[in-house]
Amino acid sequence: MVYLKNSEGNSFYVSDFRIRVFQKLRLPTLSERYAVLKDSGWNTFRIPVEKVYIDMLTDSGVNAISLEQLSDMLGLGLEDAYAGNRAYYKLIDAFKEFFPHKYLILAHQGRAAENLVFKALMKNGKKPYVLTNIHFTTTRAIVERVYGGRMIELPVPEAFDPENQCQFKGNIDTSKLEDEVKRLGPENIAAVRIEYASNLLGGQPFSMKNYYETREICDKYGLPLVADISMADWQIALMKKRDPMAMGKSASEIIYELMELTDVAYASARKGFYVRGGFITIKGDERLYEEVRSWQVVFEGHTSYGGMSLKEIAMLIDGLKMAFNDDLPFYELEQIEYTVKKLDERGIPVVKPPGGLGVHVDARRFLPHVQLIPSGEEGGYPAGALVCALYLVSGIRGMERGQLSMDRDPETWREIPVQLDLVRLAMPRKTYLQDHLDYLVDRLTWLLENRDIIKGLNWIYEPPVLRFFEGILIDQGNWGLRLLEVYRKQLGEI
Ligand SMILES: Cc1ncc(COP(=O)(O)O)c(C=O)c1O
Repeated sequence: MVYLKNSEGNSFYVSDFRIRVFQKLRLPTLSERYAVLKDSGWNTFRIPVEKVYIDMLTDSGVNAISLEQLSDMLGLGLEDAYAGNRAYYKLIDAFKEFFPHKYLILAHQGRAAENLVFKALMKNGKKPYVLTNIHFTTTRAIVERVYGGRMIELPVPEAFDPENQCQFKGNIDTSKLEDEVKRLGPENIAAVRIEYASNLLGGQPFSMKNYYETREICDKYGLPLVADISMADWQIALMKKRDPMAMGKSASEIIYELMELTDVAYASARKGFYVRGGFITIKGDERLYEEVRSWQVVFEGHTSYGGMSLKEIAMLIDGLKMAFNDDLPFYELEQIEYTVKKLDERGIPVVKPPGGLGVHVDARRFLPHVQLIPSGEEGGYPAGALVCALYLVSGIRGMERGQLSMDRDPETWREIPVQLDLVRLAMPRKTYLQDHLDYLVDRLTWLLENRDIIKGLNWIYEPPVLRFFEGILIDQGNWGLRLLEVYRKQLGEI
């Protein structure tokens, strides 16, 4: 974004990109949307994209691409090779600009990178604990279900209060961190993991001060600091806005400073880096690198491509420049801020302050009558129900980020209660326009007025791991049909 003064002397901003490729969208009719929801088992992950009008499911793998990336996709002059393709060496040079890290390892996506990192650090479960500001779904599945360990979350208490205006809800609670390290014993801890612009907290950043303090504790107890930098672009942009220790620095200076404090960084490149792929960087630990690389060859492919295509490796070179650009990441932050403000004005409960990633509606306060966990005939999962209701009345697809996204305890098969039930409406990068957001605000406003119709969901088929991806549910008591009827009467078939 370009921040300027207008002719009256007030500050305003203008986008710093233009769009030359567009995709025609079609809003499916109300009847179609209802049929799709039923066929998709009341799970927005199962909806075919041609039945979606505005896709705010995720920012992963669905960002617009730049002109430079489009030309990378042609792959001209890159010369594909099983081993040692040219783009890989160019990529290594590009990384050196932003990372004071010696080693780079590629993987086909974020969870593949996570698998390699935690396999090596957890020593196949012999170092069972990973201490973190907040878990992510795939990280938890890998640490706990694949390697038999435990992720221990130590967020600051403000993180779970959607109304709390704390600017750094992504901070780890450093006093609890030290207490936990002492309690568990550093020899049992694989890593301290910090997620940038924490996903499940609503894209909330940590502060530079908190990161330095975390580094100090890691040094004191000889623990590696591992960073999930999938959304480093928004983390850094938010720091530039809010953090006195980052203001006035360029994005490339900030990432360099952060990486100097970090032993291992990994990312889903599908998010902030605009590319279908993943990567790991290691500061200097040669033994760790050798171990990660040897498993990369088993799981991902040869070192010089690691499961990524040649074209995507080339696109990642530009993706790095876009992630660590001083202007580009602000477009979505402004979109999020704009939408949160409008929703808040209409009394729709949202996570505040606005973070990165998207707009997060607090489903617990939106649907206070829906129980958090299903029991008996009533059903549950307010965020799961609300995200389906929103699709029904708008064709907008969001994602449940709450109780449904948390797998049961595999031993007792009991639900593990979560603290936030959010509907996430992600802002894919450079993809949607202000009128799309106004439409979202309008349909959520209508839903709030008619919220009593929405009831809970119940399971028909519940997968044992990462159940939210492919699970099948039902609208308890057929509330979807009732919502359709009321909508049709008031607003028509579209
Ligand atoms: C913070 C974070 N880490 C890891 C992942 C996993 O990445 P992928 O979906 O590329 O496997 C994601 C995906 O959304 C993420 O948001």
